[in-house]
Amino acid sequence: MSEQVFDPVFNVAGKTVVLTGGCGLIGRAIVEALHQRGAKLVIADVEAADPEAFAASFGDSCIGVPTDVADANSVAQLLSKTLEHFGQVDVLINNHHAKPKGFLEGQAENFPEELWDHVLDVNLKGTFLTCRDFGSQMLKQGAGSVINMASTYGVVSSNPALYEDNQMGNPVAYSASKGGVIMLTQYLGCYWASRGVRVNCITPHGVWNHHEEAFENRFSAMSPMKRMMKAEEIVGSVLYLASDASSYSTGSNVLVEGGWTAW
Ligand SMILES: NC(=O)c1ccc[n+]([C@@H]2O[C@H](COP(=O)([O-])OP(=O)(O)OC[C@H]3O[C@@H](n4cnc5c(N)ncnc54)[C@H](O)[C@@H]3O)[C@@H](O)[C@H]2O)c1
Repeated sequence: MSEQVFDPVFNVAGKTVVLTGGCGLIGRAIVEALHQRGAKLVIADVEAADPEAFAASFGDSCIGVPTDVADANSVAQLLSKTLEHFGQVDVLINNHHAKPKGFLEGQAENFPEELWDHVLDVNLKGTFLTCRDFGSQMLKQGAGSVINMASTYGVVSSNPALYEDNQMGNPVAYSASKGGVIMLTQYLGCYWASRGVRVNCITPHGVWNHHEEAFENRFSAMSPMKRMMKAEEIVGSVLYLASDASSYSTGSNVLVEGGWTAW
């Protein structure tokens, strides 16, 4: 009988991974998976999410750092705390996104300017700031992998029919910010390609989170796979991009969306 083989190409053990939005739905699934595989983790999230308390449940290999990614000083502090604690950074995962009050209510034709500013500040500027500071550190090291969480709504438009009989929605600012995240990824992926720093993104879609039945049914009917995604189904793409398995990938967008953009 042949022995089971552990393929080191997907190995993340011992790597220092900084994860923004680490206390959220997808963030928690990523933390769990990377911790189980021996990564050292820096969980960055807003103070209200209490990343320190969340990190404490994973022991010494994990720290939590309250961070506002839209604030350049806060991002600089996140980098210095990461280096102070772990000495280097191998992987940055930009997984944060903003859902300010009233986020789902405005229609494009009357979407409030302050909500637009907030969403773009966190989703797009915040991703730029972390890429800039952590990318700069990775360039000094001569190696690193940046993973930006995009969305199908940065690739294709949302279909208003999905939201006709339910309370869900997709605001114009979200789509615009995620389109920006994908182009930022392509730009930096090419810009840093010859200096050892890879930048890629992941495009998830429709992660199940106790949604109302009307939305789940309508989503499933419109999806090639006829179901929503489970949060843990993001893990394979994260392991791929965080490890040597993706050593020849940069500026790419890994679609984890059940075929949503394929028809
Ligand atoms: N859930 C989905 O169906 C879905 C689909 C496509 C893409 N995505 C993307 O995946 C990522 C994670 O989504 P999720 O569903 O886990 O979202 P979530 O709302 O559960 O988590 C987002 C996290 O970001 C944090 N955050 C908000 N503002 C921040 C700031 N200024 N600084 C630092 N952290 C901040 C929040 O506190 C929260 O913990 C997001 O980028 C989202 O756009 C999610």
